[in-house]
Amino acid sequence: MTIRVLTGITTTGTPHLGNYVGAIRPAIAASYQDGTEGFLFLADFHALIKCDDPARIARSRLEMAAIWLAAGIDTERVTIYRQSDIPEITELNWLLTCVTAKGLMNRSHAYKAATDINEAAGEETDHGVTMGLFCYPVLMAADILMFNAHQVPVGRDQIQHIEMARDIAQRFNHLYGQGKELFVLPEAKVSEDIALLPGLDGRKMSKSYDNTIPLFQGRAKGLQDAIAKIVTDSRMPGEPKDPDSNSILTLYSAFGTTEETAAFRAELEAGLGWGVAKRRLYERIERDIGPMRERYEALIANPEKIEAALQAGAAKARAIAAPFLAALRAAVGIGSFTAAPIPVDKAEATKAALPVFKQYREADGRFYFKLNAADGRLLLQSHGFENGKEAGQWISRLKQEGNAVLADAPAQLAENISQDEVAQALAQLSEAE
Ligand code: TRP
Repeated sequence: MTIRVLTGITTTGTPHLGNYVGAIRPAIAASYQDGTEGFLFLADFHALIKCDDPARIARSRLEMAAIWLAAGIDTERVTIYRQSDIPEITELNWLLTCVTAKGLMNRSHAYKAATDINEAAGEETDHGVTMGLFCYPVLMAADILMFNAHQVPVGRDQIQHIEMARDIAQRFNHLYGQGKELFVLPEAKVSEDIALLPGLDGRKMSKSYDNTIPLFQGRAKGLQDAIAKIVTDSRMPGEPKDPDSNSILTLYSAFGTTEETAAFRAELEAGLGWGVAKRRLYERIERDIGPMRERYEALIANPEKIEAALQAGAAKARAIAAPFLAALRAAVGIGSFTAAPIPVDKAEATKAALPVFKQYREADGRFYFKLNAADGRLLLQSHGFENGKEAGQWISRLKQEGNAVLADAPAQLAENISQDEVAQALAQLSEAE
């Protein structure tokens, strides 16, 4: 089975090194695993929830697209697209909204964070909360469920959203699946080792702490300058260092191998100066990032290449999303009037194409049964029985024992029948059970 791996990045900012290590790199790595199929998208509808500065969103999505392409996404194996290029996602968003409990959304961390701040500030609970923010997890569920993703690589802060997507999928499956799983239940995939990269001050690298290291911005010098700002203690070169007293080693370990990292740790403990340590860190990161940065700059200089890649991705994505959405529309009762109806009940639909036993009572007061072929032709007609139970027993015996029953009881069952056709019909029925 092919594992579908899907992830999205909100296009409100310029990704920093933490975003690269925590989200982009693992998604790209996962996409190269055999047996996987990747979906990577720019969550620009989500961006509108957080940001009302059009220029910033526009710049961010261009940069994000260039970053992913430059970072080595294989556009053959991975479908890369803008969320806003897939109208099916917003339609699915509505279908899901209609089955999502408001109470579930009340418990969303993002929403609760906003209301907590309001309450602490003595404001009204929902002050400044838009419906976009409140329903953020539903749109995210639509992103994921649209492509029936199995795995969603995300940061820890997003785990709750994936759980909500599962809840919503389960509810939808239960209501409309007729026993089938319309949606795959997705799983969050948090890369355990370095899901959260520390920033310059040792806290989680985040724009809100203003402690980030840029990915490509400012070129090599930007990287070098940021690393120079990592907070260290004032131990002099030659003095043994505590490698865990700041973020240098952890940042290094996000790029270096286990051996490289162990060697670096030993050097710090042996007294490597912080200045030299920062230079090492810079060089190690640059070894990975430098070649990508070159590709990135070439792409940014040719936006038509990026546009073409995203258009191709959108076409691939929609080829999956459009037929699936049509089936989902039909499942909830808003399908086309003329398209072949999606069976309300698969069993019923199969029955229609199968031979069928019918039991009935005639005006003579006796009980009869007959076997009709799938096309309605009469294959077998019983004589009248005193009671219905007896007729029923013949049917069960025919179903269980097949044609042999006819040899046993020709008198009760009609003559002039094609034994072969009856045998075939009975076999068909037992296969379908
Ligand atoms: N909410 C995610 C974030 O802020 C971005 C996102 C939107 C996403 N839709 C998604 C991530 C679907 C994974 C899957 O990081």
